Formats: sequence, C-alpha cells, structure tokens
Amino acid sequence: MPKLLIEGGHTLSGVINVSGAKNSVVAMIPASILCDTNAKIYNVPNISDTNDLIDIINMLGCKSNFTDNTLIIDTKNVKNEVITSSYSSKLRASYYFMGALLGKYRHVELYLPGGCQIGARPIDIHLDSFEKMGVKITKEGDKFILDAKKLVGNELNLRFPSVGATINIMLAAVKATGKTTINNAAKEPEIINIADFLNSMGARITGAGTSQIEIEGVDFLDNGKISIIPDRIEAGTYLIAGSLIGKNLTINNLCSADLSALISKLREVGVNMEIHETSITVTSPKVLLPINVKTLVYPGFVTDLGQPMQALLTKCKGISLFEETIYENRMQHIKYLQKMGAKIELNNNIALFKGPVNLKGTNVTATDLRAGATLVIAALIAKGTTKIDGIKHILRGYDSLPRKLDSVGAKITLVE
Ligand code: EPU
Repeated sequence: MPKLLIEGGHTLSGVINVSGAKNSVVAMIPASILCDTNAKIYNVPNISDTNDLIDIINMLGCKSNFTDNTLIIDTKNVKNEVITSSYSSKLRASYYFMGALLGKYRHVELYLPGGCQIGARPIDIHLDSFEKMGVKITKEGDKFILDAKKLVGNELNLRFPSVGATINIMLAAVKATGKTTINNAAKEPEIINIADFLNSMGARITGAGTSQIEIEGVDFLDNGKISIIPDRIEAGTYLIAGSLIGKNLTINNLCSADLSALISKLREVGVNMEIHETSITVTSPKVLLPINVKTLVYPGFVTDLGQPMQALLTKCKGISLFEETIYENRMQHIKYLQKMGAKIELNNNIALFKGPVNLKGTNVTATDLRAGATLVIAALIAKGTTKIDGIKHILRGYDSLPRKLDSVGAKITLVE
C-alpha cells in the first residue's frame, strides 16, 4: 500500500499550478456518452477518479485517448451495458451514468455507487426526480434498474440543492421530451461547467449557476467540447497550506471568484494575500487569529475545504469553532489531528479548537479524500516526520500532489 512520508517545517515558496476540477470531470466523462460521435475534454486532471471513469466508458464501447490532460472520446459504438459493482463501487460519481444512460437509452442497470464514507449519502432526490420524469425504478439487491417507456420533462422542486441530483437531472433532461425545470438547484461552479459542455453538444440549458435551471429536451447531441474549470478545492487546499507555512507561495490557474468564502475567512485569520483573477500569492502571518467556520452550500464555505481548514485552526491563537453541516460523518480526521497534538473538543459535528499548538509528526491514516488533504497540511507544519497511510483516497482527487508540493520546497516522498 502506498504511503506518504512528510518531514515538516519546510517553508513553501514558488508556484503551484492548479489542475482541472475533480467534481467537474467526474460528471463530464459520463456526460460524454450522450454525444453521438465524439467529445473532447481539455484540462482533465490526472487522478484515479478520471481513470476509473474512463474504464467505465471504455467498457460501454467508447474509444478514448487521454494524453497531456486532453481526453478525446469516440462515442460511435456505445452500448448500454450493465455497470457492475467492480466499476461503480470505485467512486461516487458512477451514479452520473444513471442520468446519462437514461437520456441516451431510457434504460439503466447500475450497482450502488462507492465514494468516501463521509455520511449516509442517500440518492433519494435523484431517484424521486427521475420518477417524476416517467422513470420506473426497481432495486434488485444492490442493483438499480431504471426504465422509462417515455422520458418526459417536468417541474422538479428539490428538497435540498444537491450537486449530484442537479447534474443527474440535467443529464437525463437534455434528451427528454419537453421542458424540465429544476427549482432549488445547486449553484456550484461545476454545474455551470457541465451545462456549458452539454450546450456545446446542442443541449438547451439555461439558468445554470442560479437556483432555477430550465432544460428543453432535444433529439440529437454531438461534438461536445469543454475545458474543465480549475479545481477550487485543490486551490483552496494549497492556499491553506500557504497560509500556515508559505512565503510568497503563488497558487496559479485558479478562479479567485470561486474561492470568495475561503478568501474572506483567510483574511479574518490575518493571512497576507495578493489576489488576482487567476492567481493568489500567499504568505503566512506571524500570528493567526481565531475564527468560526460553518460549512454551507455554494457560495457559502464549501464542505470539501472544511477538513483542510481545520489543520489551520490548530494554529490560530485562541478558541476557534468549526461546524460541518452537509455531511454527518466528516470528522474522522480529528482523532489523527489529536494524535499529532491538536487540542480539539468534538461534539457531533461541532469542533472547538484551542490554539496555537505545535503539531508533532506521527503515523496517521487518511480515512477519506479531504481527511487525507488535512493530514498532509498538518504534516507540512508538524515537527518531525509524519507517515500517512490510506493514500489511495488522496490520489482519487489531487493530481500530482507529492510532485507539486516537492516543487515548492516540501520534503515529501511517496513510498510504494
Ligand atoms: N443528499 C440527500 N439525498 C440526495 C442527494 C444528497 O440526502 O439524493 C444529501 C447528502 O447526503 C449530503 C448533502 O445532501 O448530506 C449534499 O449532497 P450533494 O448531492 O450536494 O453532494 P454529492 O453530489 O454527493 C458532490 C461532490 C462532493 C461535495 C458535494 C457538495 C462529487 C462526486 N462529489 O457530492 O465532493 O462534497 O457535492 O459540494 O461531485 C469531495 O470532493 O471531497 C466530495 C465529497
């Protein structure tokens, strides 16, 4: 099993280039099969989620070429195969094949999706919405069978602005009969990116990025082309690391507008930042001030940066409070931060941090993707060496993390 060894205490200086967004590409690849002949996706991150989804489209009959962050997909021979758990359980986003295959064939057979164990993560909003579009859903053990004699647009009122449900509905609705309206839609930047990809194929989607999205079904989709937006979570992770141990560390190829909630929290902490549209240069201040952070849907403070932000709270002078509101089991990293010396009182999803403490290197385990990123940041500031197990979670979502950190001065080794 691969591990990361990180010797802490080395200042980070130089430039880190941010890759394309994981949470965009994981929907783009399933979306590509809606094209009748081909699709081109640029700025694709080289992460294991990308490669696992490429395996699924290849299994469905696509021919794909992934070179230099460009993914070219020939979709002429796509077939509607069952997506078995050996494919679907590798990642959460395999559920986007529900929407994409419904749109294309009106019929899907797919086993339960996988992904990080950060909560129960039900998919009732996806399934209720499909049902309202005329889909009959049967569950045989872990297998979902979705079948629609006719897929028809409808007005859908989401009980929560779920990112996955909003995207899955768009994927099904682009080729449904008539108009679909999604009320209380998710507004994350990735939703706009995916709508732009579908529109490049000839879909008719308006309102993406607002809480009401309208989709007029069309019969034919082709020649999809898109560049994946910068990964705001990857950018935020390196900004947090730079806030702790950076000296003129520039995070490049990002979109500052997508990071406004994080930027305003880092300002409260007292971090020195030079902010441009597509890059931010960060230097750690002498004293970090305590803050309160509560995760919310976009444009609030994103849950995916909640865990990495907690590495920073260990160094804030005084008492900081953190509350996770999106997932019920996203605090598994806390015991490892405590093992490294952090003073944290955890009460369900609220954590109280007493700082600053000097963290010490030890053996820890990444239990999920962002827990892994949190431990990497903690290790970068700790005294001594930290060994991180469970690296497969980190490799699912961070393109070339060891190389990028090494290039700005971290002492980090990936041990196979
Ligand atoms: N929810 C339901 N029912 C549903 C759908 C969601 O109750 O049918 C609940 C979930 O259990 C959760 C909340 O709603 O408590 C948010 O879920 P959402 O559907 O918005 O999230 P997701 O689509 O499952 C995506 C990202 C997550 C990211 C969230 C929120 C992908 C593959 N995953 O998940 O990314 O945290 O949106 O922004 O795009 C990560 O990158 O570390 C990660 C977990």
